[in-house]
Amino acid sequence: MTEKKFNKYTVTAALPYANGPVHIGHLAGVYVPADIYVRYLRGVGRDVAFIGGSDEHGVAITLKARTEGKTPQEIVDHYHEMIKNSFASFGISFDIYSRTSSLQHHKTASAYFDNLYKKGVFEEIDSEQFYDEKAEQFLADRYIKGTCPTCSFAEAYGDQCEYCGSTLSPTELIHPKSMLSGEVPIMKATKHWYFPLDKYENFLREYILRDHKEWKSNVSGQCKSWLDGGLRARPMTRDLDWGIKVPIKGASGKVLYVWFDAPIGYISATQEWAAAKGKNWEDYWKKEDTKLVHFIGKDNIVFHCIIFPSILKAEGSYILPNNVPSNEFLNLEGNKISTSRNWAVWLHEYLEDFPDQQDVLRYVLTANAPETKDNDFTWKDFQTRNNSELVAIYGNFVNRALVLTHNFFEGTVPEQQELQKVDKHTLQVLSSFPDRIACALERFKFREALNHLMDLARLGNKYLAETEPWKLIKIDPERVSTILNISLQIVTSLGLLSKPFLPNTYDKLSKILNFGHLDWKDAGRSDNLKKATVLGPAVLLFEKIEDDVIKTQIKKLMDTKEEKKASAVQITPIKEEINYDDFMKMDLRVGEILTADPVPKSNKLLKFTVDTGLDHRIIVSGVAKHFSSQEMIGKKVTVLLNLAPRNIMGINSQGMLLFAENEDGRLKLVAPDTSATNGADIS
Ligand code: 2FM
Ligand code: ZN
Repeated sequence: MTEKKFNKYTVTAALPYANGPVHIGHLAGVYVPADIYVRYLRGVGRDVAFIGGSDEHGVAITLKARTEGKTPQEIVDHYHEMIKNSFASFGISFDIYSRTSSLQHHKTASAYFDNLYKKGVFEEIDSEQFYDEKAEQFLADRYIKGTCPTCSFAEAYGDQCEYCGSTLSPTELIHPKSMLSGEVPIMKATKHWYFPLDKYENFLREYILRDHKEWKSNVSGQCKSWLDGGLRARPMTRDLDWGIKVPIKGASGKVLYVWFDAPIGYISATQEWAAAKGKNWEDYWKKEDTKLVHFIGKDNIVFHCIIFPSILKAEGSYILPNNVPSNEFLNLEGNKISTSRNWAVWLHEYLEDFPDQQDVLRYVLTANAPETKDNDFTWKDFQTRNNSELVAIYGNFVNRALVLTHNFFEGTVPEQQELQKVDKHTLQVLSSFPDRIACALERFKFREALNHLMDLARLGNKYLAETEPWKLIKIDPERVSTILNISLQIVTSLGLLSKPFLPNTYDKLSKILNFGHLDWKDAGRSDNLKKATVLGPAVLLFEKIEDDVIKTQIKKLMDTKEEKKASAVQITPIKEEINYDDFMKMDLRVGEILTADPVPKSNKLLKFTVDTGLDHRIIVSGVAKHFSSQEMIGKKVTVLLNLAPRNIMGINSQGMLLFAENEDGRLKLVAPDTSATNGADIS
């Protein structure tokens, strides 16, 4: 079953933020299903543009840069390369993997905004937003911290409390503070350009709920609840210095909202690809007989199903997404995958531990894909699916067919002679597989499609078990010739139909059986392999994974949990006993921080001037990742005065300030009461 009505396909996979490496959740949710779909389309001869790239703007990037003491450009350059390589290693067959910091994208997104602006689409609205007077900057929600109004967690972000999960707006925070300077931000008027989403409600209802009833229920369900909740105009610009400059007068210091520019990244990447290939990009974005499909994770549904289609509609000359087959989330060993807690299986690490076993991961992630609900990846399941399915069913069938042919026919394809009932039945079932798999793929049911593929391997095993050629070779070699010919025809179809799911396995089979000239459309036939074709050696396609390998992976994960706990609160063993005199040797005093400054060329150190009651002295501490310099000024501190001076990056540091870690591994001051006098003894 192949669709006839579309002439071209534009298939996109969500542009990941270039602020960290990619993990199995990315692959399972978006990139493997997208790649399977695209490889299938290519196999049936469709004209496809498979578009990917890195999302390099927005606060996700600037925050990472700030934490790492790097520039946003350094961050995106590093992770873009890393992500691109990971995708390539797993065979994600993008036609282009571009990036939103490219000149082409800046031009395209800027022109798109300008066009809508000139059409009068945007509403200009002045509103009061948080502003940091010291840093002279408006503050994105993520740049404001304060106490959560729901659970009183003191470190909640302006958009979300990571402790209780509440979604917040920065004005709801109690005691909001700027993460840039530690100052209490003020409210200040700023102008932004809003996209009037409310005006698109009728269009969206018809487009999604009436015209696309075939969308997955998790997708249309989320869209319906957004629509029922009422849509509001949304600002498409931000006060930020990293991103695409707003291309109109009176907008200096403002950039396009990252969720305005990122989906346009699909268009700019298509332009870049088309120019390099001598194609017309508009054929892939502006023709009614082109099918546009976005593969995304569930947190991106509103942006791809509601906001982006409205932005395309407002422009007027683009086609709309025909489907957005979003997956749910993949958890790992019962917990949510988390980059910050290092609770993930990173693709680059998987490849180090399981070299050349990309197909095993692709298989497991598809067999267990979170298609309709969140699912769990466990190492035990990974092992079982490899050993009991790939090795025991798929690999076993292929191996038996090849080994028997090598043993009985010197590795050349034997002739198909008179067919018996079992042969005819088997060949008839074989012929139904391409359509069965295609039907599931066209409906984005990747698990079902993979199941069918495995059923084909099961068919092969059943056929061998029923015909038992090893028992017949002495008495009826002609019969064995037919049986092995049919078995090898099944292997060939299995290889051809595996190409979208298991590309490396396809390559291996294609070499062994020499069927590189065939494609998906040939699968299911009983005469693909010609008599006397010489076969390659019968290599093992998959290898059993032993328990100790799995234990090592589980231990690695558990260790990160333990490390996290240990680094959260360093409970060190009790130290050697000392006497009272030893203790009294330490001159501990109340001090007060007068100035605090970053130390040039260091992202760890802060240089403090401390009023010790006796003098004003310089103390250098490695706490820059935990405090902004501004928030320290005026704080009471515990100072160890008589620590021998040390030279730290050319600065003479005279003493030590005392800190302790909290549960999250963040440093907190060991601070005397604010009424304690500077210089007072602590003993
Ligand atoms: O959620 C994310 O990781 C986003 N960077 C996805 C963007 S998809 C598209 F719009 F570019
Ligand atoms: Zn909370």
